Amino acid sequence: MKVLVIGGGGREHALVWKLCQSPRVDKVYCAPGNAGISEIAECIDIRGDDFDALLDFVKYNWIDLTVVGPEAPLAGGIVDVFIKEGRSICGPDRKGAQFEGSKKFAKDFMQKYGIPTAEYKIFSSFQQAEEYVRLKGAPIVIKADGLAAGKGVIVAATVDEAIDGLKSIMKDRVFGNAGDKVVVEECLKGEEASFMVLTDGETVVELATSQDHKQIFDGDRGPNTGGMGAYSPAPIIDESMRKTVMQTIIDPMMKGLQRERIKFRGVMYVGLMICHGKPYVLEYNCRFGDPEAQPILMRLESDLFELLKATAEGRLKDINVSWKDESSICVVLASKGYPGPYEKGEAIQGLDVFDNDKDVVVFHAGTSLNNGEIVTSGGRVLGVTALGRDIRTAKDNAYRAIEKIHFNGMQYRKDIADKAINKQ
Ligand code: AMP
Ligand code: GLY
Repeated sequence: MKVLVIGGGGREHALVWKLCQSPRVDKVYCAPGNAGISEIAECIDIRGDDFDALLDFVKYNWIDLTVVGPEAPLAGGIVDVFIKEGRSICGPDRKGAQFEGSKKFAKDFMQKYGIPTAEYKIFSSFQQAEEYVRLKGAPIVIKADGLAAGKGVIVAATVDEAIDGLKSIMKDRVFGNAGDKVVVEECLKGEEASFMVLTDGETVVELATSQDHKQIFDGDRGPNTGGMGAYSPAPIIDESMRKTVMQTIIDPMMKGLQRERIKFRGVMYVGLMICHGKPYVLEYNCRFGDPEAQPILMRLESDLFELLKATAEGRLKDINVSWKDESSICVVLASKGYPGPYEKGEAIQGLDVFDNDKDVVVFHAGTSLNNGEIVTSGGRVLGVTALGRDIRTAKDNAYRAIEKIHFNGMQYRKDIADKAINKQ
């Protein structure tokens, strides 16, 4: 079988890496991929928003399954285009992708189906939003309705900060049309966790739990990023919490999907805040989390191709999924300046020492080849991902590996997984 993966980040490297291990997969292509992906798959120079070129590629190369990594092509309707042409693709259609593409859609859905989430109001007038913020006071959360590359959420500690956020979204339009509407919501306090499921619209297959680290600095300080590291499993989701999440969040979500006739065949990522022992939904994403996919896929024992093909074809009820008992952690190495403007083109040293280490995989994100040399080309550059018999060992393995890697300006958090270790 031939598979095409769309995207070029750490998540896609992990997807490609795991797909390559399937005995049923002969060849994996990735559009556009990155330097690490090009070592194990054939990278093709087509952008994720060029649906015509992607479809042509799939037709002329007899691709059996397309897997969409990032949210933008899903929100743009790539699945609708591929399905219309009879192509097998894993991901929700345009309607399903609204769970991530419109925060208003997601909040209204949760309200309608009784899914616990922060209290909220939607505004398209700056003046009314400002009045509401003054009425509610701080802390308060402001969210641009549309896609904003993970940057559209402001957790404001003061009313002034919230109003500055409203101005930048609604008046300065820093996220363009994504800021036509805003969600203003109650600020929830607690511990976050990522809960992902695969669904074909009928059956739900739970993926291993994980926890992301959004802020740039240790101790969850500094501005939010795309994610500076993740680990799996997340002990905050113990067996009793898992059941509560399934009953109060996933079951009503599945009922809602069916009632609204939304064809969702892909990964539903539920970003949770656990407050006083009760889970609330902060956000939905309609794809694998990045960097959560990296540690999760390292723990996956089952054949990823079988899982994703069955998802695309509505056969998930026949599939069993199994996980390694070991823990896993991914530590992101980022460029100097990230999440603000960052430097590019720095040579990366020390990548070849992991070829024979079965416990460590260095997934590439923002890397490219320059005259045969691997250089930085993005904010998040590498995701050093390690397995260990427990989370402490996994952490030691990852950080020991990081000591061998270097590029100018490399920055990373030293406390990934400490929340789990401190619970032991
Ligand atoms: P989102 O893009 O919706 O995941 O939001 C990004 C981050 O903002 C989340 O991971 C949380 O850290 C934070 N956040 C979002 N909504 C809330 C909320 N209602 N209360 C507190 N923090 C929030
Ligand atoms: N790690 C959070 C996300 O993928 O959106």
